[in-house]
Amino acid sequence: MRILFCASEAVPYAKTGGLADVAGALPKALAKGGAEVMLALPKYKQVGFQVEERIALGENDFLTVGESPVEAIEGVKVLFIHQDEFYLRDSFYGYPDDGLRFTLFNKAVLSFVKKLNWKPDVIHCNDWQTGLIPVYLNTMLREDPFYKGIATIFTIHNLAYQGNFPYELLNIAGLPPELFRFDKLEFWGQVSFMKGGIVFSDLITTVSPRYAEEIQTPQFGAGMEGALSYRKDKLRGILNGIDYEVWNPAKDEFLPVPYDGSSLERKKENKKFLQKEVSLPQRDVPLIGMVSRLASQKGFDILLSAMDVLFEKDLQMVILGVGEKEIEERLKEMSLKYPDKLKVVIRFDERLSHLIYGGSDIFLMPSLYEPCGLGQMIAMRYGTIPVLREVGGLADSGEEFNHHKNEGNVFFFKEYSPQALCGAVEKALEVYGNKEAWRSVQLNCLKKDFSWDASAKKYLEVYKEALELKRKEEK
Ligand code: ADP
Ligand code: GLC
Repeated sequence: MRILFCASEAVPYAKTGGLADVAGALPKALAKGGAEVMLALPKYKQVGFQVEERIALGENDFLTVGESPVEAIEGVKVLFIHQDEFYLRDSFYGYPDDGLRFTLFNKAVLSFVKKLNWKPDVIHCNDWQTGLIPVYLNTMLREDPFYKGIATIFTIHNLAYQGNFPYELLNIAGLPPELFRFDKLEFWGQVSFMKGGIVFSDLITTVSPRYAEEIQTPQFGAGMEGALSYRKDKLRGILNGIDYEVWNPAKDEFLPVPYDGSSLERKKENKKFLQKEVSLPQRDVPLIGMVSRLASQKGFDILLSAMDVLFEKDLQMVILGVGEKEIEERLKEMSLKYPDKLKVVIRFDERLSHLIYGGSDIFLMPSLYEPCGLGQMIAMRYGTIPVLREVGGLADSGEEFNHHKNEGNVFFFKEYSPQALCGAVEKALEVYGNKEAWRSVQLNCLKKDFSWDASAKKYLEVYKEALELKRKEEK
């Protein structure tokens, strides 16, 4: 099966969050499972290497240039779309012309596969930045024999980022005005990429079974719950995995002292190193780590309100993240108030993230909502115990630790409140105080299998199902 995997970021080229981890690892796993895979990405400034052989699209698309696909990730060809004027910028997103930038990306990807005569069986789109691909295929390109029979699946990684733009986008995209209807692309008076993906793809997936249920409700649906409920028989939830080669405490080049299940005591040395690195006192107290985009989704409001109570205890916390200015400011203020307990590092730092996963005792994710979440999985792979709000993919990735049975691997809280958050941290600290019990939780974490193999199989099944649906529809 030939899969064209389209995303706006992917490890190792461009990353702001978990989408990049998925888009870097899932294609590899699909290729391992026997599929022929091409990954399409915009060529941003951050994408390092240069390949000389460039292919230009025709006159009408004279702006777009692509690199002849290179096998850059194991078993996966990567097609980079060049459009220097639009992609060679400091950030990937957040510009006034994002609508145009990603429209061009979607169009260019479709044009290139035709130009290269590389016809995929399935196009796997991810998040709003690729939402117009199923729209083009099912409208303007419908009668073009090259595109006939190609099935599309659309994966929602985060429903809150929707790519909604003024009506004008339809003209920019060259799409017919008839699409401006509530059951097509229109969303509260705007044109929505996300809605395009939801309405026009053959199957929709999201990144955990729990989130697949949640997003059909007003509380989590971000206004799309109607469209999603309408297509609920086409909606599947598949839990993400993590790349076991990138995230491996036994072979992690960023860790001063690599370790595995049989040498867990070595975590202590990594902890000391981490403390020194971020200038926390090198004391033997529980160390709570966080690696997170600083976005309201991630629960920083309840965490900030909980801090005065949390820091009454003898513990330390290190937070690595970038994002919303207000959260950055408030965290910095707190770190000045508790200089020996809280360190806040405001930047994107791959190396430090590894040190935090490896060197912390506890990993905190108090998310308001969480489609999947990868931090908790990475933490578990490093024997670092997650304290999690029981929502979305967080709820699907672990079981509450049961001291009597020595079963379970995480500590959950349900209510979105500072009190509930403190309650879960306290549960964790109590077990932390009992060395043997803590070791059991750690070993239970290490037993979990979050490698991509199982989930990749599920995607291959979804692709088959989408192809069948497409065949039936075109008959
Ligand atoms: P989201 O995709 O919503 O940001 P996930 O938990 O799915 O959340 O994935 C976040 C990914 O981004 C993880 O791999 C995490 O380690 C990484 N990450 C987030 N912030 C930073 C940062 N400041 N520095 C390094 N890595 C980060
Ligand atoms: C999104 C979600 C996160 C998920 C990631 C990868 O960024 O916020 O929960 O893990 O995508 O699917």
